Amino acid sequence: MSYNCYVDKLKKDIRSLCEKRRAVILAHNYQSPEVQDVADYVGDSLELARKAVNADADVIVLAGVSFMAEVVAVLNEEKIILHPVRESGCPLADFLNVRTIKKFRKKYPRAPLVLYVNSYAKAKTYADYIVTSASAAKLISKLDEETVLFGPDKNLAAYVAERTGKKIIAVPPNGCCYVHEYLITRYHIEKAKSERPSAKVLVHPEVLPENQKMADHIGSTSQMLKAINELEGDTFLLGTEEALSYRASKLYPNKKIYPINPRAICIDMKKINLLNIKECLERMKPRIRMEKKERLKIRSILERSFEML
Ligand code: 13P
Ligand code: SF4
Repeated sequence: MSYNCYVDKLKKDIRSLCEKRRAVILAHNYQSPEVQDVADYVGDSLELARKAVNADADVIVLAGVSFMAEVVAVLNEEKIILHPVRESGCPLADFLNVRTIKKFRKKYPRAPLVLYVNSYAKAKTYADYIVTSASAAKLISKLDEETVLFGPDKNLAAYVAERTGKKIIAVPPNGCCYVHEYLITRYHIEKAKSERPSAKVLVHPEVLPENQKMADHIGSTSQMLKAINELEGDTFLLGTEEALSYRASKLYPNKKIYPINPRAICIDMKKINLLNIKECLERMKPRIRMEKKERLKIRSILERSFEML
């Protein structure tokens, strides 16, 4: 069987399993083209959680990293949440542990703690607010306090400080995503720009602050998709995980969209594939199970955060 026939067969099997299980597949914008194509919905982390709440389904398959599956589980108590590869974590989320949070809380007792959704459930239970890269600056600008603890991404913290004029203390000081910090650098941006001088540059706020300054637009994956539609020009260079360019090209077939670095790959995102999606629907596992106390705590923090937006 050729590779293409094999992929088509897997997609057909997955869709019939979805019917049988009353399941929907939600895929993050960084998933591979074939996973995006088989999914019912593709979006950013917040969009996926919201979509899951409204989905008329018994089962959600979350094609993304584990903190995204946890958030979907928090908001969807009555549904079965399948996450095809449990070990698909997020090295940025790994930067933040409870010990670090307690240390900073003690040092800045009056500062609220705002956590990026790219953090694990245990850390989230200590947060006052939970945000995504799309909502961080908006929510923090509405807080009364001028000093805010923010983790775990130091570059997003700098972006929020620039946007809000507040003192944002990064918790921990060195938290970052290797894809955005090391694979979308000045070198990569200049190289991509020299090949396509008329292109507009869009970057994620997880890239280094000095590299954010080189861009025409800074935003989350969903904000970048929106900006492509709104900015002038027909050629765009995306400074984030390479798969967003596939998603953008499908949305805007008349525009020319390229990744700034085609090798900017999130290894954990790419652990999810058609084969393990099919297997998890057959076996109905691995499932995300959360402790009730933890789930309710995070749910109330998320609801408080949504109300601020
Ligand atoms: P978005 O919330 O912008 O989709 O980003 C998630 C992420 O993991 C960025 O690296
Ligand atoms: Fe985490 Fe970076 Fe992968 Fe996003 S791209 S999931 S922040 S490691």
